[in-house]
Amino acid sequence: MEIIILPTPADVGRVAASLIARVVNEKPAAVLGLATGSSPQDIYRSLAARVEAGELDVSQASGFALDEYVGIPLDHPESYASVIARDVVEPLGMDPAKVRVPDGRADDIEAATREYDEAIAAAGGVDIQILGIGANGHIGFNEPTSSIASRTRIKTLAPSTREANARFFDDPADVPTHCLTQGLGTILDAKAVVLVAQGAGKADAIAAAVEGPVSAMCPGSALQLHRHATIIVDEAAASKLTLTEYYKYTYANKPAFQRFE
Ligand code: F6R
Repeated sequence: MEIIILPTPADVGRVAASLIARVVNEKPAAVLGLATGSSPQDIYRSLAARVEAGELDVSQASGFALDEYVGIPLDHPESYASVIARDVVEPLGMDPAKVRVPDGRADDIEAATREYDEAIAAAGGVDIQILGIGANGHIGFNEPTSSIASRTRIKTLAPSTREANARFFDDPADVPTHCLTQGLGTILDAKAVVLVAQGAGKADAIAAAVEGPVSAMCPGSALQLHRHATIIVDEAAASKLTLTEYYKYTYANKPAFQRFE
């Protein structure tokens, strides 16, 4: 894992966007793995600014969202289909026909989730997967004890996840109880992953994911098994890491050919 510690949340978004822009510039028809929630918002804003400035063209890229709620209408403003359309597809100028979100309304959930993994494989696999992390260590909605080999499937949201996401809904009771999520095994199949976290509320999860044992109790720790995982955090989210000086030293001395800023 490469750990990059930066002063502010805006720096986190800018540097993660640089990494993603490099992937797209090298491969215009790249397959992007898309996260929702607050964490990647600065990434999407920074990418949109590059598109606006004519420095980046994402129109040939395709995308697969990490997850979707079960039990809310597709056109609900907080369905991840709506969020991805509003926060990613429109501002980045992606082709809506090339961006998929798991179908949380499918009659046959098992077939829909199996078909989602098949569609990712048929697209050639995800070139770069964007991730946030929950305070409980989840990535996607792979809650603690999720199998590290898991594929896209239906999951029950942890009560703490429903509480954390209540801010997006008028009434906490409206937060769905279930979701479809790419599995940890699905995420590990991506060719590269970039996980971003900001704020002290993520410090325990980052410490467990980066420096703890690989354990289903902290699903983010599964990324230790990935060959190309980049973790970009601000100082507050890094505050419970122990090898902080080492990570900063390593990043400051990164070989020029590996730099993406
Ligand atoms: C979102 C997702 C989740 C979030 C995580 C952090 O698609 O899969 O894992 O990344 O819950 O959420 P925020 O960024 O809102 O703190």
